[in-house]
Amino acid sequence: MLKQLTITNLRNITELIIQPSSGINLILGDNGSGKTTILEAVHLLSLGRSFRTRFLKNAVQFGHQKLQVIARTTRDVPVGLQFDLTQGLQIRLNSQPLKRLSDLASQLPLQLIPANCHQFFEQGPRYRRQLLDWGLFHVEPSFNYQWQSYRKVVQQRNSALRQHKKDQEIQLWDTHLAEYGEQITRLRQQQLELILEKFSIIFPRLCPEFTGVDFALQFKSGWSKEHSLIEVLNTNLERDKKLGYTRSGSHAADWSFNINGADPAEIFSRGQQKLFVLALSMAQAEITLDSAQHTRSILLIDDISSELDQHHQQIILNELAKLPVQSFISSTDYSLVKSLESDKSATVFHVKHGRK
Ligand SMILES: Nc1ncnc2c1ncn2[C@@H]1O[C@H](COP(=O)(O)OP(=O)(O)OP(=O)(O)O)[C@@H](O)[C@H]1O
Ligand SMILES: [Mg+2]
Repeated sequence: MLKQLTITNLRNITELIIQPSSGINLILGDNGSGKTTILEAVHLLSLGRSFRTRFLKNAVQFGHQKLQVIARTTRDVPVGLQFDLTQGLQIRLNSQPLKRLSDLASQLPLQLIPANCHQFFEQGPRYRRQLLDWGLFHVEPSFNYQWQSYRKVVQQRNSALRQHKKDQEIQLWDTHLAEYGEQITRLRQQQLELILEKFSIIFPRLCPEFTGVDFALQFKSGWSKEHSLIEVLNTNLERDKKLGYTRSGSHAADWSFNINGADPAEIFSRGQQKLFVLALSMAQAEITLDSAQHTRSILLIDDISSELDQHHQQIILNELAKLPVQSFISSTDYSLVKSLESDKSATVFHVKHGRK
């Protein structure tokens, strides 16, 4: 969680210092005032990259040489990020140069709900896997190791397949690949069951018309249910050789929750899709807090007002106030301030031309 944030030369923000509350931080302002830029700064600090551009040079304020984002977490760990047009990216965590980006992410677990958060339904399984694995990364200490090891083995096997190596040399990787894969599947399934449990409570609160409906887990491990991964790798060796890559495995997993037996993508309105994604993020935030690490996570909600009516925005703010998360929410709708009047822990920031 962040207790102070200083942003320098990021887009239209020349210098901005804010002391966020531990609960809701509502950022209000007109179009182009710098609201999403504040969320971008928090994202940069947590993940070392922007959600708006792959090229950080575009985020440096025109006419300047570098951007900086500096913060202090509630554990009193200083975090600082600088992107210089000539020297590139430098990150310091606890006054030391950062070794691995995952160290940064574990200090500040962050979930982003972009203005257009329909990727869950519209994009391929990759986005859904990342969403699930985000939770595991923060909850299950062994997951990161398992997943990184798995990826390395798949890369080695794929490279053997592409180089038309002998069967034995390709199959050399199979035992490890299958072990990691089976373990990742177990962890993913456990996490999904936890998410489903929380989601089934939160979602009907955000979307009361779904009260009393049945939610069920739909999980595809990435290979056929009837067989173990090692069997599938053996059986499909010829296919993989033709393709030049390993088709089955944890890298091909996918999941969703069925609603009354139906795929939510088929029944939800646009606003309901957004509420679905919000409920999932809230569920993950609760699980992260319940875990052994007890980490309080950060939720970024860019443009809460898009696709949601006032009533649903109000419900979200009420539910967020009960949740142990620090949220940064942007909106152009000044009337939202009224919804927060009774929430003593909420802070409202008004931004205008990159200033408070
Ligand atoms: N590299 C840059 N240097 C200076 N200004 C920039 C740079 N990149 C973007 N901007 C400007 O920064 C401003 C802030 O953009 P931002 O996306 O944060 O606005 P916003 O408040 O989220 O607006 P909206 O309500 O439309 O989403 C915009 O006016 C944009 O044109
Ligand atoms: Mg914006």
